[in-house]
Amino acid sequence: MGRLVVVSNRIPGDGAPSGGLVVALHDTLSKRGGVWIGSSGETHDVPSTSLREVGSTPYRRLAYDLSHEDHEEFYLGYSNSVLWPLFHYKPDLIDLHDGYFDRYAEVNRRVAKMVADVLEPDDLLWIHDYHFLPLAQELRALGVTNRIGFFLHIPFPNAQNLPALPEAREVPHWLAACDLVGLQTKRDVAACRESLRVSEQVEFLGESTIRCGGRTFTLAHFPIGIDAKGFAELARTAPAPTMAVAANTKIVLGVDRLDYSKGLVHRFQGFGAFLEHRQPGSMRATLLQIAPPSRSDVEAYADLREQLDMISGSINGAHAELDWTPIRYIRRPVDRDALAAIYRRSAAALVTPLADGMNLVAKEYVAAQDPEDPGVLILSHFAGAVEQLEEAIVVNPYDATNMAEGIEQALTMPLDERQRRHASLWRNVCEEDVEWWTRRFLDRLEQDAQVEAA
Ligand code: G6P
Repeated sequence: MGRLVVVSNRIPGDGAPSGGLVVALHDTLSKRGGVWIGSSGETHDVPSTSLREVGSTPYRRLAYDLSHEDHEEFYLGYSNSVLWPLFHYKPDLIDLHDGYFDRYAEVNRRVAKMVADVLEPDDLLWIHDYHFLPLAQELRALGVTNRIGFFLHIPFPNAQNLPALPEAREVPHWLAACDLVGLQTKRDVAACRESLRVSEQVEFLGESTIRCGGRTFTLAHFPIGIDAKGFAELARTAPAPTMAVAANTKIVLGVDRLDYSKGLVHRFQGFGAFLEHRQPGSMRATLLQIAPPSRSDVEAYADLREQLDMISGSINGAHAELDWTPIRYIRRPVDRDALAAIYRRSAAALVTPLADGMNLVAKEYVAAQDPEDPGVLILSHFAGAVEQLEEAIVVNPYDATNMAEGIEQALTMPLDERQRRHASLWRNVCEEDVEWWTRRFLDRLEQDAQVEAA
């Protein structure tokens, strides 16, 4: 079997990795070995045209630098102001500019050349996420014949939304240049099939076999997991950080990048509704929201930040008491050890995105609980994780009353019900972990190759 070569927008630095995609791939490559190619995070006047080796980990890391213009137009522009909102069912937030797509195509072409230069004939290539939708097509144009898998970490737009992309007609060809296209959920596969079905260029050969432009590819769902046992151990052993939350106050936790897809405004409103209905003198709860900023130069992110400042201020103004702040909103990253310990201390977690590929915070929260006295997961109907985590309290983030009821139910849930729900969630998070995800994806990528060769 050849090497595993992974390409994603970023490679991790030397410290502990953070962020769903990076953590998952770091765990995969640490166990299996291989090569990880991605941007260094540095930008220069002139971008790299070849890869350079960085640091040593259990796997090789090869990096390239982007130019300042690439950062503006490829990363902040087409990737995060066009594809991200569209794929998260927010076409109204798409911000199209001349030059964005050209730069996106150019970066993909450049990265394809750098990847092709280091590929060996037996390598399995695994491309990740929306930054690299046309990468496989560029690699094929260079004559690369290796098996190529593509995994999309975010949702897939349906037939109502995809046409908002000026390049929508290209999408089937981008996918068909791969051998295997993996999405997070059954819901995403259905949306993708629906989007492809309206395209005259596509032929459905079977349940998961699709043909377009003379190439055949497989489309299936592969829900991403976490290193559940490792994270459980971290949560059990990590020292609890000092927190200014009174002992008689329950913590309801939120952990998200500061992103409009995460439904933070709705979450604050839901928590506000919970406070409105609270009986005087009843148990107190504090929403501890950790939301490190991301992509702050994109206008929609700056707007969200302002909105959250306003709404948290107004809810606290209405409900705070001398010894209690209902919403504690922390806009900076918290390191993984401290986070794991906070997950374990929290009576409930609010994971309530408006759209989300999977949401690994939901899985980490489950893994971090003490099985004897577990906290309760409140999960949005719109998180990919809802297809697996059936024993969570499922809420509609658009309905503040429903969210308030979910919080109340979580905070008053009897111990035996908490234990029963947690046992079932833990079983799922543990069985369908990051190793299971990797194995299923790579086995399918290799297995389909054998079928074709036979
Ligand atoms: C999501 C995307 C990843 C991305 C991460 C962090 O999880 O699916 O591809 O790496 O967000 O986003 P950022 O723009 O800060 O790298």
